[in-house]
Amino acid sequence: MTSAPSGAALAAAPGAAPPRLVISDLAFGYGGGKGEAVLQDLSLSVEDGAFVAVLGPSGSGKSTLLRLVSGLAAPTSGSIALDGTPITGPRSDIGMVFQKPTLLPWRTVRDNVLLPAGFARAAGPKARAEADRLLALVGLSKAAGAYPFQLSGGMAQRVGIARMLLHDPTLLILDEPFAALDAMTREDLSLELQSIWMRGRKTALFVTHSIPEAVMLADRVVVLAGRPARVVADIPVPLPRPRTIETLTSADFNTIAYDLRQMFRDIAGHAGAAIPGGPA
Ligand SMILES: Nc1ncnc2c1ncn2[C@@H]1O[C@H](COP(=O)(O)OP(=O)(O)O)[C@@H](O)[C@H]1O
Ligand SMILES: [Mg+2]
Repeated sequence: MTSAPSGAALAAAPGAAPPRLVISDLAFGYGGGKGEAVLQDLSLSVEDGAFVAVLGPSGSGKSTLLRLVSGLAAPTSGSIALDGTPITGPRSDIGMVFQKPTLLPWRTVRDNVLLPAGFARAAGPKARAEADRLLALVGLSKAAGAYPFQLSGGMAQRVGIARMLLHDPTLLILDEPFAALDAMTREDLSLELQSIWMRGRKTALFVTHSIPEAVMLADRVVVLAGRPARVVADIPVPLPRPRTIETLTSADFNTIAYDLRQMFRDIAGHAGAAIPGGPA
């Protein structure tokens, strides 16, 4: 178990590329910071191109952390910077996907992908071509003209992923994007996300409460725990890529997943209840 290096420590390393995302001494409480602190002393740096999974029990503050990183809420104290610029509000170089994609039911799949580009009707042919390219990337070319009610849960989440990619963001933020899907669809979409990430060389911050999903996807698994929550572990996942279904059965995969499960037992005292280790 290693603790996360602080942004300052990494920035000081001579010759090292600066981390893309630097979170320093973050604290946050709802109610304008007057409520109970949800996050405290939270520091985390994410290197360019890294896929970092944030793992933690339900209610530990994972979504809160992502809301802060995506600029939807402001920290009580501490700072968050992307490429050296403090995050003060939503920005187009950050793409987001949540557990349930918020699709507008009266718009087609293509127009839902185009939502971040403003009113879909106003989108020019270039934007529409880009939406179609992204829909092809997530295997939805044939559904471009369909409406949300015609989609399965997995297809709807694919629309969410295509939409996340519209402005070619450098940082991807995903909050339990596959949690509502069945196990098979979840596995398929995890592997698709990996290939999208590998092709686009993006930096990703991926929240999950599934240990296998975190180990399957991430270069590093950052564990949030405590109340208020902070980073209690930062575990490298040196498994070769691309990872496949076979990865799930490898000894290395299982050792890392087992160690994480043990850690949660130590943290929670009753890990089975606190953190489901079910199928990714
Ligand atoms: N809008 C809110 N107002 C007040 N408290 C909240 C709000 N959203 C979340 N919380 C509280 O903050 C804590 C962390 O929540 P959250 O970040 O959603 O956890 P996680 O995503 O890890 O399940 C929980 O105790 C939750 O009840
Ligand atoms: Mg959450």
